[in-house]
Amino acid sequence: MYDFALSKSSFHSCKEKCYGIYVFKRTNYKNNQELNMGTDSNRSTIKLSQSKLDVNDPDLRVVFEDLQGNILKSHGRSHSLHLFLQFTSEDSDKSREWIGKISSRLTSAFEQHQTALDFKESGQEHLFTGLMLSYSGFQALGIDDEEIPDDKAFRAGMKNIEFRYDTGPGGVHKRTINPLNDNPENWEEPFKENIDALAILAYGGESLDPTTCEDHLNEELERIKEEVEGVATILSVEKGYTLRNEKGNVIEHFGFEDGISNPVFFKADFQRWEEKEGTEYYDPSAPFGLIAVNDPGGSSTETSFGSYYVYRKMQQNIKGFNDQTKQFGALISKEVGREVDQELAGALAFGRFKDGTLVTTNPNKTAKPLNNFNYDEDVEGLGCPFQSHIRKTNPRGDTNRKNKIPMRSERSHRIARRGISYGSKDLNPSSEWTDAGLLFLSCQSDIEQQFLVMQCGWSDNPNFVVEGTGTDPITGEQNAGDGKAAKKWQLQMDGKEVSIDFKYQNLVKIRGGEYFFAPSISFCKKFNINHS
Ligand code: HEM
Repeated sequence: MYDFALSKSSFHSCKEKCYGIYVFKRTNYKNNQELNMGTDSNRSTIKLSQSKLDVNDPDLRVVFEDLQGNILKSHGRSHSLHLFLQFTSEDSDKSREWIGKISSRLTSAFEQHQTALDFKESGQEHLFTGLMLSYSGFQALGIDDEEIPDDKAFRAGMKNIEFRYDTGPGGVHKRTINPLNDNPENWEEPFKENIDALAILAYGGESLDPTTCEDHLNEELERIKEEVEGVATILSVEKGYTLRNEKGNVIEHFGFEDGISNPVFFKADFQRWEEKEGTEYYDPSAPFGLIAVNDPGGSSTETSFGSYYVYRKMQQNIKGFNDQTKQFGALISKEVGREVDQELAGALAFGRFKDGTLVTTNPNKTAKPLNNFNYDEDVEGLGCPFQSHIRKTNPRGDTNRKNKIPMRSERSHRIARRGISYGSKDLNPSSEWTDAGLLFLSCQSDIEQQFLVMQCGWSDNPNFVVEGTGTDPITGEQNAGDGKAAKKWQLQMDGKEVSIDFKYQNLVKIRGGEYFFAPSISFCKKFNINHS
């Protein structure tokens, strides 16, 4: 399976065919320019600024049929396989033919909705299939440059650590190299290779037994293996699954409920939040343009969209986290003169307790809603620390309160998280760095201004959102040396302000990653030889 890997240069240069040039207008949602959609009644009238979308809107049907699933909303399946491919055929026609073959099986946003309805009504499971290409993948397919999406990080690739990015919060326009502080030399072998494509297969609901899910996925895996013989090497197959707690809610490997707060694109999902707990303190809705860009290779400038994906394989040090929360809990107890358990220490790192409730250092305070909150009543970060994972990655107005940055701008850096856990299910291992963690995936329309600002400008930045905050204890750049990691914890405990020195470290290790683009389905169908 992992046998041959030819040099790319020979076929990267063979852009022998042009598959039709589509005139497209670059748009910049961040500058408040919207796609000026036509008034032709056969065309969709979607705007990048449009939010609270109706999946059943007949005018938008053509958009949702051309956009891949898992972008506007998670595919929701409990098991997945991530197949990392490298095109190896010297004849790019053959590779494109495979794209054409798989195109008829890709799950569109519309189909994802239909299958979800069917599952609810009849219990029928449906396979989800998604396909993403890296820049080298587009090149290996011989796609004309003007049909390749032009995000600069996407084009540079994750392994290009010399490329300069502007990730300063609040427009500090100082370009830095290697904003993720990556060392691809330390990645797992398959990720050191040139990755051209990522296919995602997903299957199963909460109640379906894992073996049945895996059987279905393996069947499809075998089919793809046969199809790509002589065309591509499958460098790696990563198995993902949704880890759940005793209540059946999705958690990550440190035991915290995950996937609670994400941008919401559909009206029906927004209404669910409204009914559940209101949206007056935090509005989860997001415009289409937060994750979608016009696909320059799609069949229409008006209806073909895609999204950039960031993939990071993140290994978690579960024992390290459990041990460090005990130590931190003991320090807090000593400082306040009463027993404080490690639950609070862990919750301070995340900003939420394990059950998702917003962290509070006040033992008498009642639980807050899961998502309908902001930090207006905690402007100095004494309840939910500035460095906690959720406050770093979604400051909910801190950049406005502290640096007068407009809310619209802060919210434009949001990402849609689509990750899934992998590896051992042991949440109390006796050794550090078990083979377990998160296959992090996020969708966005601008990798630099969304994922990279969030990771480098916010999480890894010891001075975000105020001087001396420290880095994000979970995903911040923890090996960068003293002075950067979250050290000072300024807390309001039992009516007094306390300051505790503690540094979480070595909790997450990057094992590989890449930037991808999930093209429109019409782009892929162009290569389907049976397609009229
Ligand atoms: C192993 C790595 C990671 C773990 C264990 C982890 C875990 C969590 C948990 C438990 C939550 C709270 C649940 C929720 O609000 O949905 C959360 C929220 C979040 N995480 Fe992570 N995460 C990881 C990596 C990342 C990375 C790399 C990023 C982006 C750079 C990120 C961005 C976010 C965002 C945006 C939120 C939602 C914050 C909010 O809206 O309040 N996470 N994460």
